[in-house]
Amino acid sequence: MVHKRKKISVIGAGFVGATCAHWAAAKELGDVILLDVNEGVAKGKALDLYEASPVESFDSRVIGTSDYKDTVDSDIVIITAGIPRKPGMSRDDLLVTNAKIVKEVCQGIKQYAPNSVVIVVSNPLDAMAYVAKQVLGFPRERIFGMAGVLDTARFSSFVAEACNVSVRDVSAFVLGGHGDTMVPMPRHCSVGGVPLTEMLDKTTIDKIVERTRNGGAEIVGLLKTGSAFYAPAASAVQMAEAVLRDQKRILPCAAFLQGEYGAKDIFVGVLCKLGGAGLEKVIEVKLNEEERKGLDHSISAVQELLSALKKIEF
Ligand code: LAC
Repeated sequence: MVHKRKKISVIGAGFVGATCAHWAAAKELGDVILLDVNEGVAKGKALDLYEASPVESFDSRVIGTSDYKDTVDSDIVIITAGIPRKPGMSRDDLLVTNAKIVKEVCQGIKQYAPNSVVIVVSNPLDAMAYVAKQVLGFPRERIFGMAGVLDTARFSSFVAEACNVSVRDVSAFVLGGHGDTMVPMPRHCSVGGVPLTEMLDKTTIDKIVERTRNGGAEIVGLLKTGSAFYAPAASAVQMAEAVLRDQKRILPCAAFLQGEYGAKDIFVGVLCKLGGAGLEKVIEVKLNEEERKGLDHSISAVQELLSALKKIEF
């Protein structure tokens, strides 16, 4: 039997893209193509990363390029291209600029990697996933967005810190759009199998929920010149790994809803099963009244963003 290495293309060689390439190569998910309009940056970072492989002992070729031809037959494409926000900006302020960029990227992917599974990371995430789906025309199994894994990672890390336990023992998920309206789900969080609500008091949990919602802005406020990249990249690569290794992981992703949670034709963060076929299933979780309200509010916020998107030319 001939075994062929998997191929992962990462579009955008900024902090998020380069860190995705780093983690994908280090985990030996396959060979990595790092593409950027700035060819020198893509080639330089790719070569530098490849030269780290003898030290770290990973067998992944890492190739930088500005030519979409090099993405041909990719198994996975991770789209990180776009500008990040600066302090005081919301993710939604990036709408016009990043819609143009994501559109161009998807035209390249459609031509050279029409059978790939695409993970969108660019912000505003839920709207950029929508743009990508419009341009690519892929079924929802092969196009979804990274946000829930990141928001959940933030939530889980704060929970682990507050409980003084290993992050490995925290199980949680965050639903909704990747914005201020996201809906962390403390009722569904457990620590070593014990419900979070039995481990921490309500005031502490409320603080963690609030800090999670502002998790992106907290980093932007500290960095001043850009946004988070370690946790966003790790999250995108975890999703890619679930698909490439057919892990059938249950992870929150921005999925193109088709009636689930009463929403249709928009991307919103929901719990999904990711495996070899891509987004294999959307899992509808039973929500209580407060959670339902939170999710409805978040769905409306994404819908508003989509209305704004439909009014602009890009
Ligand atoms: C964040 C950005 C990347 O949440 O959306 O950090």
